[in-house]
Amino acid sequence: MLVFAIETSCDETSVAILKHNKEILSHITYNQTEHKKFGGVVPEIASRAHLEILQKIIPKALKESRVKINDIDLFCATCGPGLIGGLLVGSTFTKSLAIGTKKPFYPINHLEAHLLSPTLNNKNIFPCLSFLLTGGHTQIYFMKSIGSYKLIGETVDDAIGESFDKVGKILGLEYPGGPKIEKWAKKGNNNFFELPHPFKNKKNLNFSFSGIKTAVNIEIKKNKTINKKIIKDMSASFQNKIIEILKEKIILSLEYLKNNNKKIKNISIVGGVASNEKIKKELSSFCKKNHYNLIIPPKDMFSDNAAMIGWACIQKYYLSKKPDINFKPDPRLSIY
Ligand code: KG4
Ligand code: ZN
Repeated sequence: MLVFAIETSCDETSVAILKHNKEILSHITYNQTEHKKFGGVVPEIASRAHLEILQKIIPKALKESRVKINDIDLFCATCGPGLIGGLLVGSTFTKSLAIGTKKPFYPINHLEAHLLSPTLNNKNIFPCLSFLLTGGHTQIYFMKSIGSYKLIGETVDDAIGESFDKVGKILGLEYPGGPKIEKWAKKGNNNFFELPHPFKNKKNLNFSFSGIKTAVNIEIKKNKTINKKIIKDMSASFQNKIIEILKEKIILSLEYLKNNNKKIKNISIVGGVASNEKIKKELSSFCKKNHYNLIIPPKDMFSDNAAMIGWACIQKYYLSKKPDINFKPDPRLSIY
């Protein structure tokens, strides 16, 4: 079975062609650089760019995978949550291909695709405690099985990736700030700046990042110029605080699961922020020390990509979920 998938929910335009047995025949992701000069994603520019880029990368993906559009068995696209313009472009494009070839169309939830991404390279991850760490969401789920997710915590203000991007902007780094902060942090002092710890000593499973961002802003404004030492030390201090918070939330989530008689062995981190090497390393040894496995997706499936959308579609298909060509993209689509 051949599956054709498209992801266009934010600023990555991605297409994938994959087989039911997880073999990826082609996977092309274009990171829109058009937004850098604005310091964040401009929705209208993003949706126009998706339309142009899709027309270039789809023929390339078909050629690379030696597949003809008529050979595709299932079509799928991200239908939410995300920016409505991009969702409309990607889903309408894919629905048109499905109609033209008389094949089924599956709407895919972007968050669910992130959550299921580690099932591509790991066997039997369920039940699992999962941390969704993206530019738009920060949520903690207890995942019992595919389709059975309980949200147990989430951010009350900024998303974790958004906080990396905002701190990056304060430090004068190019958008997106996450990867740049990771790079600068390598040479900085983790404890140079003392940043606030939200909900400290309160057994709260929710996150809050806006106070840390404000503290960074106040600290940086104390200086007339931002020199390299400040960028290094602030990047390191901020990233270190984020890691501290994630470890704390892991402990609190495990306590919550224990109190609710739910046993798990696996803890997963997914989404763009989970690609941060320092976060992966620290959380991996933290989980090991506490006798849990840290589960992560394949290397190129942390950030937004179409392969995870296609893989989610395959799993939906095997669970006998019905295709739905009439599904309307929803910018606030939820998974529970
Ligand atoms: O999952 P993703 O690609 O898109 C959404 O679904 O939002 O996540 C994008 C976010 C951005 O905020 C970006 O700064 C962050 O992931 N990110 C990182 C790193 N790479 C990407 N944050 C910290 N460290 C990184 N290495
Ligand atoms: Zn995403």
